[in-house]
Amino acid sequence: MTEQEVSFYDRIGGHQVFEDLASHFYALITVDPILRPMYPDEDLKGSARRLMLFLEQYWGGPKTYGEERGHPRLRMRHAEFHIDEAARDAWLRCMKSAVDEIECDAALKEEMWSYMEGAAQFLVNQPN
Ligand code: HEM
Repeated sequence: MTEQEVSFYDRIGGHQVFEDLASHFYALITVDPILRPMYPDEDLKGSARRLMLFLEQYWGGPKTYGEERGHPRLRMRHAEFHIDEAARDAWLRCMKSAVDEIECDAALKEEMWSYMEGAAQFLVNQPN
């Protein structure tokens, strides 16, 4: 296998990294005053798992997300939530802490983080 054929998923550390990322992220969501009311589940385990599976698939890992949920359609799936700049920033704050916990190359972390910033902006659906 040449370096180009190794997925980002593998380079950053595979399944355990995505599991830890989602679990750190959702631990923070649970105590965030803007975000917590938006997430319906009692314990958020289902939400954490969906995010983990989505990110694994996006970065070239297993395609379980697609098998279970179909096409991501993230704009559509977020349409029912009021996502303004404050919600985006709260989401990104939680995600920044979770991404910072990953032990990996600085360049990989930077790539992951830029993606998160772009994706969160793309999901803003309310002026304020
Ligand atoms: C911008 C701020 C964001 C807010 C306030 C937000 C909020 C939410 C909420 C309330 C849910 C429903 C919980 C659930 O059933 O899973 C959800 C689901 C989800 N979010 Fe976000 N989200 C944001 C950004 C993002 C970003 C940037 C991504 C991807 C990088 C993402 C990926 C997902 C995924 C994959 C799901 C589950 C979709 C499904 O299969 O049903 N979200 N989000």
